[in-house]
Amino acid sequence: MALVPIHLISLAILLQFVAAQQSNGSVPIGASLAATPNAKPWLSSSGEFAFGFQQVQGKDSFLLSVWYDKIPNKTIIWYPKGGPTVSTGSKVDLVDRRGLVLSDPQGNEVWSSENFSDFAYGYMNDTGNFAIVGSNSRNVWESFSYPADTILPTQVINLGGVINSRACETNFTGGKFQLRLLKEGNLVLNTIDMFSGSAGNAYYNRDTSDESSSTNSGFQLVFDTVGYMYILRRNGERVNLTTEGSLPSGDYYHRATLDSDGVFTQYYYPKNPTEDMSWKVVWFVPDDICKAIDSKACGLNNVCSLDDNRPYCECPPGFSLLDPNTPNGDCKPDFTPSCDEGELNHGGDVFDFIELNNIDWPMSDYVHMNPSNEQACRTSCLNDCFCAVAIYRDDQCWKKQLPLSNGHKDPSKNVKAFLKFRKIDGPSGTGGNNSREEDKSGTGEDISRRGFIFMGSALIGTSVIGIFALVGVIYMCFFQSQKKAGTPLLSSTTVETNLPRFSYQELVIATNGFKDELGRGAFGTVYKGVIGTKVVAVKKLETVVQDGQKEFKTEVNTIARTHHKNLVRLLGYCDDGDKRLLIYEYMSNGTLAFYLFEDKRPSWKHRSSIAVGVAKGLTYLHEDCSNQIIHCDIKPQNILLDDYYNAKIADFGLAKLLMINQSKTNTGIRGTKGYVAPEWFRNTTVTTKVDVYSFGVLLLEIISCRKSVVFDDDAEDVAVLTDMAWDCYQYDTLDAFVQNDSEALDDLDKLTTFIMVGLWCVQENPLVRPTMKKVIQMLEGGIEVTDPPCPCPFSVTS
Ligand SMILES: *[C@@H]1O[C@H](CO)[C@@H](O)[C@H](O)[C@H]1NC(C)=O
Ligand SMILES: *[C@@H]1O[C@H](CO)[C@@H](O)[C@H](O)[C@H]1NC(C)=O
Repeated sequence: MALVPIHLISLAILLQFVAAQQSNGSVPIGASLAATPNAKPWLSSSGEFAFGFQQVQGKDSFLLSVWYDKIPNKTIIWYPKGGPTVSTGSKVDLVDRRGLVLSDPQGNEVWSSENFSDFAYGYMNDTGNFAIVGSNSRNVWESFSYPADTILPTQVINLGGVINSRACETNFTGGKFQLRLLKEGNLVLNTIDMFSGSAGNAYYNRDTSDESSSTNSGFQLVFDTVGYMYILRRNGERVNLTTEGSLPSGDYYHRATLDSDGVFTQYYYPKNPTEDMSWKVVWFVPDDICKAIDSKACGLNNVCSLDDNRPYCECPPGFSLLDPNTPNGDCKPDFTPSCDEGELNHGGDVFDFIELNNIDWPMSDYVHMNPSNEQACRTSCLNDCFCAVAIYRDDQCWKKQLPLSNGHKDPSKNVKAFLKFRKIDGPSGTGGNNSREEDKSGTGEDISRRGFIFMGSALIGTSVIGIFALVGVIYMCFFQSQKKAGTPLLSSTTVETNLPRFSYQELVIATNGFKDELGRGAFGTVYKGVIGTKVVAVKKLETVVQDGQKEFKTEVNTIARTHHKNLVRLLGYCDDGDKRLLIYEYMSNGTLAFYLFEDKRPSWKHRSSIAVGVAKGLTYLHEDCSNQIIHCDIKPQNILLDDYYNAKIADFGLAKLLMINQSKTNTGIRGTKGYVAPEWFRNTTVTTKVDVYSFGVLLLEIISCRKSVVFDDDAEDVAVLTDMAWDCYQYDTLDAFVQNDSEALDDLDKLTTFIMVGLWCVQENPLVRPTMKKVIQMLEGGIEVTDPPCPCPFSVTS
């Protein structure tokens, strides 16, 4: 009998506890939530925000998240990085000294808030911030510090802060867009490469950097309590993002989300019932994501048009989606677009055009004909097997190659696009038979590779060279090779890339009178500058001859067409009398030389990924692109690091420019002492293997963090690193070589492989050195590395 009251008392206490938990937002240590459809979340005191599990993408898939609990569709505003989903029976615990721990039904930890200090309780704040509050009442962890794709009023993003989009509305894994507040104060939107994670060029940039005084640059992105968003400068000034007076009056929820389509949008939603209960837009950037180059709002070969300010992607006729579930992804041609040898001379028999109005694919062109006429434009494209589409506007013609990028509809441009298709399996309604054969070649990469192989054979038969005059030139950095390959075939005056050309005066302004020097190299001095809203590196070429007019343009065109994620990208040039300048993307983290030798020792993991990055960039120069380029000056000063410390090779394609000047006066040795291959000193042909040698030296430097050349007491510089590497390899003293780097020694297999590859690359005999392609396979463990022989000189040269 006495049991009943006790029961009632404990029930009363329990109820009180639950009520307390719900009314003041605090969550005690030891509290736990299960991932089940009806589990009660932890609510903020107003009941507006909830922390818990939401069912996403089907029945057995839960996302740990924070959401608006009073909005019918429970809009999610926070989730752990990467949006990991868990199955029924998973749970989240608030564990003493650990914080939030998310574990799956088997008890494996999926995510944790990683906070190892003492704390008192958790707290779902009415701001939407879930905090873990320390015993001193300070927050030791808060969800606001780890934003997902959304920020809320009272939330602040500091310098270096990042917001990532989700993959799509119901898939919370990282999408391809990012919002970042960069170190110099600029707010940018950019894409990220899904494989390497490296950032693409900004497609929106709100510049608040301040070249003249660092005290005035932006340093915080603020979303204030009443819903205004702005960038705060160090001197207290605001750079408004939400325009004054644009917010609705009354009581609303506000949020700003980097949507999965790449548009950053501020929204509002009425707190009290009205007729129209939905999220409304206050403002968004960029204005037109379809026109924003680098936004990749729609994939390759795709066409973007704005639908209520949102990008809408549609494959052009004759093309279809590579992945039918990803409408904003890449499109592939439904026909075989190859340059088969037999088709060269009768393009018209095999191909025809569909005419499209007001569609353009900027940046994909390889030939610009000015002036031209419609007929000439069509004919030229029809007879050029590389041409996938010809754009005709204002008596000018641009020929473009697959894959086509940045495609968008633009009625204001008044362009005609002649899109080529193969008659036999062309789009329905165009007269071809409709038995569409599945395209086995697939992507544009295959296409260009096929083009390259064929081009190689075409160069052997000189009679075919003419056909390839516009595309097929193999450039060599060395004059001997240049003789062999013939003088540049690119001679037509109509050949131009659409690489922006700047006047000298514009660059004086952009660089603030060449004030901020970034570095000096063999080819000239590099300065920091700003063009539009983009930070750039401007290289003033000092050693180029005056009358190398045609060569300069040729080289610039070659360099401009050479894109790879491990190569520094050329953005523009200046050719103003004797003033020759190149404009490159700016690399925020400086040179590899600084990173390796001057900064504190970078981690082994990082070093090894940089080595592979450099190898990939070099392979591309040597093998993959349609114009072979020998770099001739691979060294750590010529490797730059982007925001994410990805390696990017600089100065490629410039060796030849310098040669024009110097071949008359010196023996033609290019490169830098300590990195140059021995064959430079002999009268033999120079091949891509000179770069392999230099790469080998660089690799040994990356492994050991030691410089290849040291100055001894007599001020004589001696290259000792290769000898040392050989000795340490031979006598099994790798620990000495890496200066007892424990991280590298723990990864002994990889370390040994890397040293062996380095030793293979620095072999005296160029024929024994591997190609860069093979180097990558060896570094990545794809093929086994055999014992390298001694890299000792086999002959003595004076
Ligand atoms: C909740 O948010 C408000 C407003 O930002 C803040 O003043 C308060 O300290 C927060 N409470 C906790 C426990 O974090
Ligand atoms: C979510 O998106 C990622 C990346 O695009 C993809 O790999 C994954 O399969 C998607 N998940 C679901 C359940 O669709």
